[in-house]
Amino acid sequence: MEQASTHPIMSLRHITKDYHTNSEVVSVLNDTNFSIYKGQMVVIMGASGSGKSTLMNIIGLLDRPTSGDIYYDNETIHNLGDESRTSLRSSSIGFVFQDYHLLPHLSAEENVSYPLYLHKEIKSQERIQKSQEMLKQLGMYERRHHYPKQLSGGEQQRVAIARSLVHNPDLILADEPTGNLDKQNEESIIELLQAITREDKAVVVVTHNEIFQHYADVFYQMVEGQLQEVSSRA
Ligand SMILES: Nc1ncnc2c1ncn2[C@@H]1O[C@H](COP(=O)(O)OP(=O)(O)OP(=O)(O)O)[C@@H](O)[C@H]1O
Ligand SMILES: [Mg+2]
Repeated sequence: MEQASTHPIMSLRHITKDYHTNSEVVSVLNDTNFSIYKGQMVVIMGASGSGKSTLMNIIGLLDRPTSGDIYYDNETIHNLGDESRTSLRSSSIGFVFQDYHLLPHLSAEENVSYPLYLHKEIKSQERIQKSQEMLKQLGMYERRHHYPKQLSGGEQQRVAIARSLVHNPDLILADEPTGNLDKQNEESIIELLQAITREDKAVVVVTHNEIFQHYADVFYQMVEGQLQEVSSRA
């Protein structure tokens, strides 16, 4: 298989994740291995509760595995502290949360521009311009002054997608990005994620929506805490 680059942008090796509750230990990931290259869209499906969001949080550096190694651009990030992880995340990773995580006291436009505040070189006018462009792409420009609670679920989802892309990340992680969308918006989100992939970015989509299988360069099922490769575009 021809790869856009010689090494993966992100790679997970022998990842396990256990959750400890009062009465028991839940083992969610059990020797999970995963690599993604620039220019690829990887799609992960699997039963509810199989560990997809858990895995996304680990890939997105929002949570740490119980054991195993993570490599970003061929460098282990095992020893990175919280500050360096946050910095890597804000420069390189865009995350669409399953439940959006929009900040309730910020308007749609302010939510989208939020990741740009971490980029000191981007001045206020450019911040507004980039945010408005993203909102236009997602068909949410007219609603830019609305607050999350004034938006429908699908509208909030589109604002969350705009926010994940505004800082031009190399790795986009989308957890059920079309869960609340009608067919037309679903199609435009798929097209947008495809276009981003063609820009030599890497996109990971976790979904219950079978349509994504047709767009996947690599398609996995999460089964018993492991990723099983179902198909891969040669
Ligand atoms: N903080 C936590 N403490 C204890 N158990 C947890 C925690 N977070 C997740 N789990 C458990 O881990 C398992 C995997 O959860 P996860 O959210 O990753 O599933 P998922 O595949 O994303 O499911 P869905 O398709 O419903 O979004 C579930 O059984 C869940 O109960
Ligand atoms: Mg989930």
